[in-house]
Amino acid sequence: MVQETHVSAANLIFPLFIVEGNNQKTEVMSMPGIYRYSIDNLLREIESCLKLGLNSFDLFPNISEELKDKYATESYREESLYLRAIREVKNNFPEAIVVTDVAMDPYSSDGHDGIVKNGEILNDETLDILGKMALAHARCGADIIAPSDMMDGRVGYIRQVLDDNGFINVSIMSYSAKYASAFYGPFRDALNSAPKFGDKKTYQMNPANQREALIEARLDEAEGADFLMVKPALAYLDVIKLIKDNTELPVAAYNVSGEYAMLKAAVQKGWLNEQRSVTEVLTGIRRAGASAILTYHAKEVLENKWLTP
Ligand code: PBG
Repeated sequence: MVQETHVSAANLIFPLFIVEGNNQKTEVMSMPGIYRYSIDNLLREIESCLKLGLNSFDLFPNISEELKDKYATESYREESLYLRAIREVKNNFPEAIVVTDVAMDPYSSDGHDGIVKNGEILNDETLDILGKMALAHARCGADIIAPSDMMDGRVGYIRQVLDDNGFINVSIMSYSAKYASAFYGPFRDALNSAPKFGDKKTYQMNPANQREALIEARLDEAEGADFLMVKPALAYLDVIKLIKDNTELPVAAYNVSGEYAMLKAAVQKGWLNEQRSVTEVLTGIRRAGASAILTYHAKEVLENKWLTP
C-alpha cells in the first residue's frame, strides 16, 4: 500500500540484436543470456516476449564489414538486414511496439555516429543521412524512432522529414543526455561497431556534466522529441531526476550493456543475488523518474516473475 515505486512490463523496452542468416542465435560473449538473432529467430524471440506481456522492442543490427562505408549507405538500402527485420516484425506482430535506432555507427566504416572528415565529425552533413535512415524505418512500420547519434539539431531535422512524408504519428525517443561512457563496451562487441580511431567525446557528453544535460533535453523538447532519454542509467540517476523535474515529457533511461555485464559477471561468480540485484536496479531507475527503461533484463524479469504486482 505504501510502496512508492513499481516496475511493470509496460515500463520495459527490450533491446534485441540482429544478424544476417538463417536459424542463427549466437550469444554475445560479454552479455550472458543475450543473443544476436537472424530474422527468423528474432520473430520467435519476439513472439515469446509478447506472451510474457513484454511488447516493446528496440532493434540493433550487426552489419558485416564489407557492407560498411563512410556514409552508412547500407542504413537506408531497401533490402538491408535492418529494414527487412522491421518489416517482418511489424507484418507478423502489428501489436509489437518497434523502436528503431538511428545512428551511423553500425554501418560506418569509421565506426562513428557521424560522417568523418580529417578526423572530425561533420555534424550538419550527417543530418541528411539520419533523415534518410529515419524515413526508411518509418516506411517499414517503425513506431518510435530513437536517434542515438548525438548530432546537434537531429531531432528537429528528423521530425521535419517524417512530417513532410506523412509520418505524423511516428514518435521520436531522443537520446538527449547520452554520455561518452565506458559502459557501452559489450554493445560494441555485440555489433562490432567500435570506433576505428579516436573516441566519441566530441559528440557524446562529458560524464562530469549535469547542467549540460538540461540544455540538451530542452533543445530536443523544443525540436519535437516525444521522449527524452538519459544514457547510461546507473551512474546518471541524478540526471534522470533532473530532467524528470524539468519536463512534462516522459523520460526514458537506458540500462546499458556494461551495466548488464557487470551485474551478470558478479552473479556468475556467486557474489550477488541475481533476482534482488536486478529488481533493485530497475526500481532505482524508475524511482529516479524514468517511465521507460531500455534494459537487457526485460525478458528475464518477466520469465522469472521477479516483478512485484
Ligand atoms: C550507438 C549506440 C551505442 C549504444 C546504443 N546506440 C553505443 C555507442 O554510442 O557507442 C549503447 C547501448 C548499450 O551499451 O547497451 N549509436
